[in-house]
Amino acid sequence: MLGNFSYCNPTKLYFGEDALGNLSAELSKYGNNVVLVYGGGSIKKNGIYGDVTGILKAAGKSVSEISGVMPNPTIHKLREGIEIARKNKVDFILAVGGGSVSDYAKALSVSIHCDEDPWEKYYVRFEEPSCEIVPVGVVLTMVGTGSEMNAGAVITNPEEKLKIGHVFMDENIMPKFAVLNPRYTMSLPKYQMTAGIYDIFNHICEQYFSGEDDNTSDYISEGLMKSVVHSSRIALRDMNDYEARSNIMWTATWALNTLVSRGKSTDWMVHMLGQSVGACSDATHGMTLSAVSLPYYKFIMPYGIKKFARFAVNVWGIDPDGKTDEQLAEEGLSAMEAWMKELGLAMKLSEVGVTPDMLDDIVNGTLIMKGGYKVLSKDDVREVLSAAM
Ligand code: NZQ
Ligand code: ZN
Repeated sequence: MLGNFSYCNPTKLYFGEDALGNLSAELSKYGNNVVLVYGGGSIKKNGIYGDVTGILKAAGKSVSEISGVMPNPTIHKLREGIEIARKNKVDFILAVGGGSVSDYAKALSVSIHCDEDPWEKYYVRFEEPSCEIVPVGVVLTMVGTGSEMNAGAVITNPEEKLKIGHVFMDENIMPKFAVLNPRYTMSLPKYQMTAGIYDIFNHICEQYFSGEDDNTSDYISEGLMKSVVHSSRIALRDMNDYEARSNIMWTATWALNTLVSRGKSTDWMVHMLGQSVGACSDATHGMTLSAVSLPYYKFIMPYGIKKFARFAVNVWGIDPDGKTDEQLAEEGLSAMEAWMKELGLAMKLSEVGVTPDMLDDIVNGTLIMKGGYKVLSKDDVREVLSAAM
């Protein structure tokens, strides 16, 4: 573990089928005016809305609502929510949903008492909040992003064709608690389940494929990746397999709660490409990642060949006997490709609604990160995206 770093994660997790039973005690720690934030209505269909509002009522909370938070939440929706939260003088934000709702709640938490426009402050200038932060709690219903235990908040600006993630430094922006009941994820359509599974896997890849030192984070990452692949195959056969769904939920949280990034420079280029695709197409996050992943990893593989060879052996169980690093690296990516196809993920950008005329905007909107095995130029970005078409 080279370098200097700190580690603190203040989010308290309640896991399992009885996890919601802890909500009431958590709510008692915060003020009376709660804003309930949720998406397009799935929580009303599967009964979670009724259970949560029952607990809020029994706790005597004064509840306002922000509903209709869309996948890939927009800055317009955020501005609308800020007005509702201010009008109701909210003391606490309860997010019930997936990554979009959780991210939205965090973006709201740093905007309610902020005098400046949140897009300019947090998504253009990437500043930290200087105002009071309204605490957030999460009841998670969709698995993948890790938003339930991190300080990330991704917001889309459709006019500017930008989808930007701000990972705040201030750990006060991390949810105070998260309720993780794997049963809640079982009403997800298969498309969302598999998109979430790939999101988890790719979060781990983004941190794993960087650096050349011997790092404990890589060993943890390999274990998490193996667990995701194993459980995904069971969940694919039986979406109601509680054990598999619970493992998927737990790995999602640990894949992106800052643990496995310790001591790593981290890459994040698949996410930068995927987010720009999302800004132009509004496609499902995990599918934007799957569509660009193989062209990207094939492109950078020669620059990080040893790690790709290790990935093949330690994650995919490929026998290294008599093989060069190059051969192993190729076989590792082929094994990953075969698994992605098993899951039925989008393997091409055309499958997520991207047409060739969008390419310029996607290239322009792709932020270039510097932590991976090769720093891409804009021409490289275009080459990778073209190969993904
Ligand atoms: O809106 P409703 O009706 O609730 O439907 C949602 C939505 O349509 C549905 N859904 C959620 N739980 C369900 C359910 N349907 C049936 N049963 C349930 N139990 O699923 C759809 C997708 O939900 P969404 O929250 O958009 O998915 P996800 O959790 O993948 O979140 C995606 C957002 O998170 C951001 C992405 O960019 C994207 O905006 N990310 C956030 C990260 C972070 N905070 O660290 C990192 C990630 O890399 C990602 O970028
Ligand atoms: Zn992601």
